Amino acid sequence: MPQDLDRLIAKSVRDVPDFPEPGVVFKDITPLLADSEVFGAVVAAVADHHRGATVDHVVGLEARGFIFAAPIALALGAAFVPVRKSGKLPSDTLSATYDLEYGTATVEMHTDAIAPGGRVLIVDDVLATGGTGRAAVDLVRRAGGTVVGFSVLMELAFLQGREKLADVELHALSVV
Ligand code: PRP
Repeated sequence: MPQDLDRLIAKSVRDVPDFPEPGVVFKDITPLLADSEVFGAVVAAVADHHRGATVDHVVGLEARGFIFAAPIALALGAAFVPVRKSGKLPSDTLSATYDLEYGTATVEMHTDAIAPGGRVLIVDDVLATGGTGRAAVDLVRRAGGTVVGFSVLMELAFLQGREKLADVELHALSVV
């Protein structure tokens, strides 16, 4: 992993002001995805961080989390598991609802996605308020899995999402 990966990430994630609404600065990861060296270094860094932990499943959070979680699962020889927004998964699901600034959101996972006692790494692109991550941790535990880590490309520390994930090993490649 390049020593300066956090700097490379900062350079290749684009800030888009006032998206999706006025006052929000959106973290656009598409320039990073277009740079195979940085994208590859991110995947390798997360996989290397967890290689000793025996990961059975890598859970990716829709939609941008999928992009990182799938190659990380392959790198670790683990099963990829999607956590999706409500109504997208075809078989029996567990669901978790969390609060947004206005209203709520629901995410789902197949009930049979995690092997009994399976060791699970959760992967997402950005940790913001932590609501999505908290819901994902709860889904994995309700499905009988053990969360051995939670990795994100970028943590927005000012939103204090880490506080909602105090009971998991949270690993952020960059913190802004
Ligand atoms: C974004 C991001 C994380 C989540 C973080 O996803 O990719 O999954 O929000 O926010 P939180 O920590 O406040 O819950 P979004 O819901 O925008 O979905 P998308 O990836 O499908 O665009």
